[in-house]
Amino acid sequence: MSSTDSPTTDEELSSNNTLRRRIVQTFGGIGVVSFAAAMLTPLKTLGINAEGGGGTELAGQTLVLAERYQPPDGDTTFEVGDPVTVEMMDMPDSILTFPEELVDSNNDMIRLHRLPEDQITEPTNPDWTAEGYVAYSAICTHLGCTVDWDTSDETATGRPTDHCFCHGSQFDPYEGAKVVHPPAERPLPQIGLEVGEDDVIQLTSDFGDKVGP
Ligand code: FES
Repeated sequence: MSSTDSPTTDEELSSNNTLRRRIVQTFGGIGVVSFAAAMLTPLKTLGINAEGGGGTELAGQTLVLAERYQPPDGDTTFEVGDPVTVEMMDMPDSILTFPEELVDSNNDMIRLHRLPEDQITEPTNPDWTAEGYVAYSAICTHLGCTVDWDTSDETATGRPTDHCFCHGSQFDPYEGAKVVHPPAERPLPQIGLEVGEDDVIQLTSDFGDKVGP
């Protein structure tokens, strides 16, 4: 399969899905800029099957890390499965997370961002943001790969985007994850957040639209 082909069979999707999880859990930290660059090439060929969480209620669930996270200016490393707290993330930054009860459901993987609040604008739903945290499905609406956080100087907007390296789609997390580079045609669906007890980041809703293709 070339770098521009998408997976076409259930077997390919399942294989890619497993590989992607292994990469995330083994290496983690693709929110760290220097490491993200090393990850980009292999991720071009990885597709994720959108299988869904089986109707589990999302509202009320705490977000937990799907990859190891070390804030760019921090000394502490947070591990896969750690709950996300409001003080954890630098700004701007992004990390892959799962709802705590759906850590094996790739369709429910969520890309959590922390952005300067005054830069989060329409069509983002402001009622679904909390202290600069805003979250979208991590599943590309083109053919279902996982989107990465691109902090390079060459994004479609000139600021960080959610970038799917399977076929090049980019989404603007500052503006409702709208499409800023094709071939995707639909935004990444937003999901509601609040700061809960013990300062953990919790979901307040289901996804605002269909996840994935
Ligand atoms: S799956 Fe094709 S651009 Fe994301």
